[in-house]
Amino acid sequence: MKITLLAFLSAVTTVSGHGYLTVPSSRTRLGAEAGLDSCPECSILEPVVAWPDLNIAPVGRSGPCGYNARVGIDYNQPATNWGHSPVVSYKAGDSVDVQWCVDHNGDHGGMFSYRICQNQTLVNKFLIPGYLPTADEKQAAEDCFEAGTLSCADVSGQSCGYNPDCSPGQPCWRNDWFTCNAFGASERRACQGVDNAPRGSCYTSIAGGYPVTKRIKIPNYSSEHTLLSFKWNSFQTGQIYLSCADIAISAGSGGNPSPTSTTSTPTSSPTCTPAANIAVTFQERVATVVGQTIKIVGSIPQLGNWNPASAPALSASGYTSSNPVWSFTANLPAGTVFQYKFVKVESTGGVTWESDPNRSYTVPSGCDSAVIVGSSWK
Ligand SMILES: *[C@@H]1O[C@H](CO)[C@@H](O)[C@H](O)[C@H]1NC(C)=O
Ligand SMILES: *[C@@H]1O[C@H](CO)[C@@H](O)[C@H](O)[C@H]1NC(C)=O
Ligand SMILES: *[C@@H]1O[C@H](CO)[C@@H](O)[C@H](O)[C@H]1NC(C)=O
Repeated sequence: MKITLLAFLSAVTTVSGHGYLTVPSSRTRLGAEAGLDSCPECSILEPVVAWPDLNIAPVGRSGPCGYNARVGIDYNQPATNWGHSPVVSYKAGDSVDVQWCVDHNGDHGGMFSYRICQNQTLVNKFLIPGYLPTADEKQAAEDCFEAGTLSCADVSGQSCGYNPDCSPGQPCWRNDWFTCNAFGASERRACQGVDNAPRGSCYTSIAGGYPVTKRIKIPNYSSEHTLLSFKWNSFQTGQIYLSCADIAISAGSGGNPSPTSTTSTPTSSPTCTPAANIAVTFQERVATVVGQTIKIVGSIPQLGNWNPASAPALSASGYTSSNPVWSFTANLPAGTVFQYKFVKVESTGGVTWESDPNRSYTVPSGCDSAVIVGSSWK
């Protein structure tokens, strides 16, 4: 029996699963971009009872930020490439887009949540450079994150849905965050249906990722450095995926916070001013040799109207052999819809196009003024 169990565990570890927080950039994503984490979607708490009681499993070594056993990285501990400063600053009361990335092989259904712990004392244990929080500190923080689950219903107008596998009265029959289309559906199955984005629109190492975008409402809390934790309880496997991002939260407009206090006192519910133009950063993973250039060619003038000669080139300034990423940022009007592909241009001028179908993208309309679109050469 033991052998069977081990074989099962090893199978789920190598082929199943898999997702992580990508927007804002989680510690896990930064680990992957630094070339240290070869499988960012593999930070898994397992084997656990993940369903239907979402909170019954002790968080253990995984903590609220995740432990990736595959590469031996504990993201609860700040390191050179993550954890030392916020990657984004939000305003209390704002509704903002967040995104996680689910691997094509890993649409296990289930429930995901975004959480903010409003006890700075507990979170501070995760912000000390080089300090690894103890198991007790991880669990105490996890309990606080659970208490700080951000409800989908707090975002006005957002469609939240219920889990199709639950019935009234079951613990999972709740609309804090439900996730995907039915993962047994015949088309647009599971999480890949959420954003209608093509496979590879965000980076996973196994089979290519699908982004899952939702809005969260930033709570009435302020902190110069705290954490947003993402937790996905898988339905099909005994697995929970955890990752976190370092963020700052400033008091909402109309607030009157004391500079030393960790809670804000907004007097009204602030609303965001939608950005007219969004800085869209395309990050394409593609290994190249000296002399080759990657360009992004698409259906809008900013991307050369499908003419490679007029299309902008990506930069290789962040390219390393372990993390071959080319990137380019375009300022595009919110709501712009376009199709595109990446092309590889030889020093001789020869052009190699990515395979079909065309990629498509809709520039978000919202409070975010910058988004990242990750992909891999196809
Ligand atoms: C925050 O957590 C600390 C450590 O567990 C605890 O002593 C303190 O009472 C908590 N603060 C609040 C406001 O809950
Ligand atoms: C924010 O929190 C403060 C202190 O807890 C409270 O007095 C205030 O009413 C809250 N504001 C909103 C908009 O909820
Ligand atoms: C991609 O877009 C180009 C330009 O509109 C079009 O000619 C081509 O047929 C498209 N490819 C596919 C597979 O739809």
